[in-house]
Amino acid sequence: MKTEIFKINSPDDEKIKLVGQILREGGLAAIPTETVYGLAGNALEGKCAEKIFAAKGRPSDNPLIVHISNISQWDALVSEIPDSAKALADAFWPGPLTIILPKSDLVPKEVSGGLDTVAVRMPENEIARAIIEASGVPLAAPSANLSGKPSPTSASHVIDDMKDRIEAIVDSGDCNVGVESTVLSLAVSPARLLRPGKVTAQELAEVLGEVEIDDAVFDKLPEGKRAASPGMKYKHYSPDAPVVLVKGSFEAFARYIKENAREGTVALCFEGEERALDVPSITYGKRDDPSSQAKHIFDALRRVDKMGAKQVFARFPENEGMGLAVFNRLLRAAAFNIIEV
Ligand code: TXA
Ligand code: MG
Repeated sequence: MKTEIFKINSPDDEKIKLVGQILREGGLAAIPTETVYGLAGNALEGKCAEKIFAAKGRPSDNPLIVHISNISQWDALVSEIPDSAKALADAFWPGPLTIILPKSDLVPKEVSGGLDTVAVRMPENEIARAIIEASGVPLAAPSANLSGKPSPTSASHVIDDMKDRIEAIVDSGDCNVGVESTVLSLAVSPARLLRPGKVTAQELAEVLGEVEIDDAVFDKLPEGKRAASPGMKYKHYSPDAPVVLVKGSFEAFARYIKENAREGTVALCFEGEERALDVPSITYGKRDDPSSQAKHIFDALRRVDKMGAKQVFARFPENEGMGLAVFNRLLRAAAFNIIEV
């Protein structure tokens, strides 16, 4: 299949109609969102979900997020919208928050990965919303990476992974947030944070009163335990080289690298720190700025591969507020491998 690439920089661009038509006719298109690029298909057709799983090489028991452009589309997808969900939508939509509720019969089992719940979000990115609008249907869209690879935050990442596997790729430059949406389940009580993102647990608790953070956010699932969010049980975001998260001061990090570097060692550090390190390095944002780290982390993980790294030592990010989202992604990239120095 030959992938058509559409450069679109405005929600009024005429080419959005063509992308909408491809989606309406059952094709797949990678589209920008404020978090990461999504691999979109008609969320009401089980066959489209199957095509998405095939293009990504993703296990089909991992459910997809359904994207809407208008709050009225939500009603038909879920069995009921409780007041707590309405309050969250008021506070955070359009934006990087995904809300899980019991699903309606309209949502095919292929989209929900066989679960009786469905994850829904209304993206903030105006081009994304215009494409949903133009397609005339809600769009199922996981991140547009090959399964296991870092999520794509630029069209070139998507092209690397998806060229000639899908009908279209929309190129609208870099994503603003850089890590995927916060995933919150309202299908359990109290509400449970399944994946941290830009919308923090603290912000959610201000609206809901109480939010639990799922254990899988911080730790590897114990052998045999069922994941609340199936995505959490898979290896994720990994460069080809093994990554170790090194916890400690920058001085201790630099010393650790000096003592343990070998051929092919690459450091993943904060801006400015590379000058004081003895090995090639890639930076991921500013030290005290989790949102700049979020914006650069996935690109940094991809660049590590392009450098041909054989071993990666990564600086440990702050793990509070939005920093928890960055920490959670790096923890998975490192397969939970942390060394304290
Ligand atoms: O920011 C985002 O959310 C991006 C953009 C494209 O919108 N999408 C995204 O989708 O990250 P994906 O499929 O890569 O991640 C969805 C996560 C997975 O970990 C999945 O297991 C979880 O959400 N999920 C989806 N539906 C669920 C459900 N019904 N119950 C529990 N977890 C669910
Ligand atoms: Mg993903």
